Amino acid sequence: MKVLILSFSSNIVNEDSFIPNKIGLTFSCVKLCQDTLHSFGYENVHICINRKDIRKCMACGKRGWGKCLDTNKCVLNDDFNDIYEEMSNYDAYIFITPVYFYEMSESAKTFFDRLKRCDSFNENSKLRGKRIVCIACAGGSGSGTEETLQAFDRLNYFLKTNMHGRIPVTKNTFEKQKREIEKLMSFEK
Ligand SMILES: Cc1cc2nc3c(=O)[nH]c(=O)nc-3n(C[C@H](O)[C@H](O)[C@H](O)COP(=O)(O)O)c2cc1C
Repeated sequence: MKVLILSFSSNIVNEDSFIPNKIGLTFSCVKLCQDTLHSFGYENVHICINRKDIRKCMACGKRGWGKCLDTNKCVLNDDFNDIYEEMSNYDAYIFITPVYFYEMSESAKTFFDRLKRCDSFNENSKLRGKRIVCIACAGGSGSGTEETLQAFDRLNYFLKTNMHGRIPVTKNTFEKQKREIEKLMSFEK
């Protein structure tokens, strides 16, 4: 079993964190997933999308449908195509984003905008049916976690992936949600 973790926060250090290890909530969840996957003997790789060059979709091509509709490849020359191709090599995906303004982060939106474009109509897509776990990391109120997870539900619909788990996390609920995240990492059907 090979699992790819994609995260969408720049914040490694969070001095306001209630979590003792003082790393941001997104990175705390990344670390929890990595440690748990490791304990199950699953290979895993983490890519922080914020550290990659991912530009916005240009909505190119005829009437904005994009050249990727035919080629399943983006015309932009940045890190996106390599990451999309790399995704084929994994059996499952974990997406972890902070909640900003009741939505997934900007880097997440930018990445998934392009993934939807390239993959939704790709009949040879290697993503079909693969399990995804989506984690929305919010501040104290937790407002917007459900809206963020709903956006992942729509992404799951377009990519025809298999929603294995959707978890809202706040700094106050992290300890409790840890167990839910750990359970999902076994990827039992
Ligand atoms: C620009 C911005 C907008 C935010 N919007 C929300 C929000 O709508 N709901 C919420 O509960 N927290 C919100 N927060 C708080 C973050 O979701 C929270 O701090 C989260 O832990 C960020 O992830 P990180 O620890 O990986 O940085 C916002 C934070 C920022 C910086």
